[in-house]
Amino acid sequence: MGTDKNTFSKQLLTWYANNGRTLPWRESRDPYCIWIAEIMLQQTTVTAVIPYYERFLKTFPTLENLANADQQEVLHLWQGLGYYSRARNLHACAKQIISEHEGCFPKSEEGLLKLKGIGPYTAAAIAAQAFNLRANVVDGNVERVMSRYFKVEEKLPKAKKQLKEHADTLVPPRGDFHSYANAIMELGARVCTPKSPNCESCPVSKGCKALKRGNPTDYPKKLPKKKTPEKHATVYLIRDRKGRLYLNQRPEKGLLGGLWQPHHEGWEKKQDAPYSTQENNHIGFVKHVFTHFTLTLDVREVKASKEFPGWFDPENLPPLPTLFTKAIKLQT
Ligand code: ADE
Repeated sequence: MGTDKNTFSKQLLTWYANNGRTLPWRESRDPYCIWIAEIMLQQTTVTAVIPYYERFLKTFPTLENLANADQQEVLHLWQGLGYYSRARNLHACAKQIISEHEGCFPKSEEGLLKLKGIGPYTAAAIAAQAFNLRANVVDGNVERVMSRYFKVEEKLPKAKKQLKEHADTLVPPRGDFHSYANAIMELGARVCTPKSPNCESCPVSKGCKALKRGNPTDYPKKLPKKKTPEKHATVYLIRDRKGRLYLNQRPEKGLLGGLWQPHHEGWEKKQDAPYSTQENNHIGFVKHVFTHFTLTLDVREVKASKEFPGWFDPENLPPLPTLFTKAIKLQT
């Protein structure tokens, strides 16, 4: 049995050495860089993350730079990535490391787990990649690999615990944990893909139980997804005579916290319109999918003839969530 596990990691690591992508964060062993990358990678693809990652590190090259930053600037750099609470936690965590850890990341999973916004996945990912500690890094890709390799019948999300235990049995007792963590994620992302896995080029296909049965794409088993509710709102793009846009800031806490928005009605608690919106012009619809619901915006433009506070030049807008950026783009 011990030999099997050794074979798994050896074959995986050899494959990774020859096939792994060179990615900006893989060049680094700095926990700060790895942390930023891992938080960004939780919400979107590698290709989408690269420009965000590079811009972020150029603006805030060190933990101190981030800790001392203005929150609006952090949100600006995050604009378009979604899940803005992650950006706010990132900022708070940088401050926490400065004030509680003299600016150094704790060098253990337990220590990392005590930091704001760092859960078991991120703690393991930093431990393995920055400190070369034996850590079991399990993301959605790794879950899929395990569900197929061990042919796990239990359904997600219940199966998470079992999949993590399986993954742990394959992490070698010593060696290059940076490479192992990246290799197992890379296998899930590039070979053991959801719909059409490339089993012919899989370095560990010999031991794959689902492949033996000929049905790897039947795994992971999943509970049927709940249908998410559909919500609707009307957005009013109120512009003054100079073409400036009226925006207000969302509350710090909650969905899209701290970001800016045009006046809208019909979705959240009603706010008074800053200006009469009765005369408006429908310019289109925007559909946006959030984790727990889908929102359709009926976008209207309003020409204001009266001055009131809250105007922004189109070239100089504060951080806006993507759904409102999409609405504004309808005008141009
Ligand atoms: N997804 C999560 N972490 C990753 C990493 N280090 N490399 C590539 N994709 C990832």
